[in-house]
Amino acid sequence: MGLWDKRDDMIVHEADPYNAEPPRGALADRMVTSVDSFYSRNHGPIPFIEPQAWRLRVGGLVEHDLELSLDDLRGQFQRQTLTVTLQCAGNRRADLIKVRDIPGEDPWGPGATSTATWTGVSLAEVLRTAGPREEASHVTFEAPDISQIAEPPQPYGGSIPCTKALAGEVLLAWAMNGELLPPVHGGPVRVVVPGYIGARSVKWVERITLQDHPSDNYFQATAYRLLPAEADPAVAGPGDGISLSVVAVNADILHPDDGAVLTAGAAEVTGYAFAGDGRGIARVEVSADGGRRWRQADLGEEASPWAWRQWRAVVDIPSGQAEIIARAWDGSAAAQPESPAHLWNPKGYGNNSWARVRVTAR
Ligand code: MTE
Repeated sequence: MGLWDKRDDMIVHEADPYNAEPPRGALADRMVTSVDSFYSRNHGPIPFIEPQAWRLRVGGLVEHDLELSLDDLRGQFQRQTLTVTLQCAGNRRADLIKVRDIPGEDPWGPGATSTATWTGVSLAEVLRTAGPREEASHVTFEAPDISQIAEPPQPYGGSIPCTKALAGEVLLAWAMNGELLPPVHGGPVRVVVPGYIGARSVKWVERITLQDHPSDNYFQATAYRLLPAEADPAVAGPGDGISLSVVAVNADILHPDDGAVLTAGAAEVTGYAFAGDGRGIARVEVSADGGRRWRQADLGEEASPWAWRQWRAVVDIPSGQAEIIARAWDGSAAAQPESPAHLWNPKGYGNNSWARVRVTAR
C-alpha cells in the first residue's frame, strides 16, 4: 500500500500536500474507479475529523440558519447515490508543459480524473430546508484545511451558482463506492459538484453560506481561473481571468500505455471520454495513422449523465513508430481541439486537446 492507502504504483506528484494520480491502466475498462486508485488533489494538510464531532453550518441569505450533524444529514434528508466523475482542472497539464514550461505546477497526466459512486443527500434539499432568500445567487463552501499555497494562507473554499446548487445533482456525500468517505477524499462529508471542475467539490465541508456574489476564497477568486497566455500569474489577482466551472469535453487513451511496444496489426485501444454539465459523450474516434483515417469507438455503459464513458476501438497499427490519437464530441456537438499549443495558459488548466500515445509496433 502507498500513502493514504493508495495503490503503491500511484504517480505521486507531491507527498505533502498529497497529490497523486493512478497509472493509465488503473482507470482502464472500469466504470467506477476503486478508492485505492482514485486520484487525490490537496492544497494543504489532510484533516482528521471524527464523524461524531463533524458539524455543518448553513447560513447567509437564508430564512433559517441550520446546524447539522452527520446523523441529522442521514436521518432528516433523502439518501441519494449517484455515479459521478471528478476531473481536476489540471488534468493532462503534462501536455501543456511540453508546449511551454509551467513553473510551480504539478505535471498531471491523464489520471487527474476518476469516477466513483457517491452516497449522501442532495444539497438542494438541505438548502430548501434553510430557505434561500431571493437575493441569494451563489453558494459558498468552507473547509478547515489551511493552504500555505494561497495568498494569504487560508482555509480551502469555493462556490457555485445557486442555480447549480439547487438543481438536485449536487451532493453532500459521506460514502464513496459504498464505503465511508476516507479522510483523503474529504471524510466525514464533502461536496460533490457533478460536471464542474473538481476544485468546486470541497472536501471536509463545514460551512455553507448563501450570498449575492461568488466566494472570495483564493481558490475561487484567484486560482482556478484561465489567464490569457501572456499574463504573469505572479501578479494576477482576484477576478483576473475566466472562472472555471463546467468541464469541457475531454478524452484520453488508457490502453495501450504511452511508450508501449506492440505487435503490428489489429490492436485494441481503450480510454475515457467525459463532458461536464450533463452533456454526455456522443462520439469518440481513434486514428493510428496520424489522423488520415478514423475509426469510431464503441461507447461503454452510461452510468449517469455525470459520469465518463469508457470506450474501445480496434485499429490497425503499422510496424515501426506510431502515434495513436483519440478525439471526442459531446452531446452539444462540441469537439476537442486538435493541439495543446493554442490552449496553453500560465497555470496549465483545461487541457482538452486530442489524446495521443506513442507506441512501437514490431
Ligand atoms: N477541498 C478541500 N477542502 N481542499 C482541497 O485541497 N482540492 C480540490 C477539491 N476539493 C481540495 C478540495 C480539487 S482541486 C480537486 S480536483 C478535488 O478536491 C479532488 O478530490 P479528491 O482528492 O477526492 O480526488
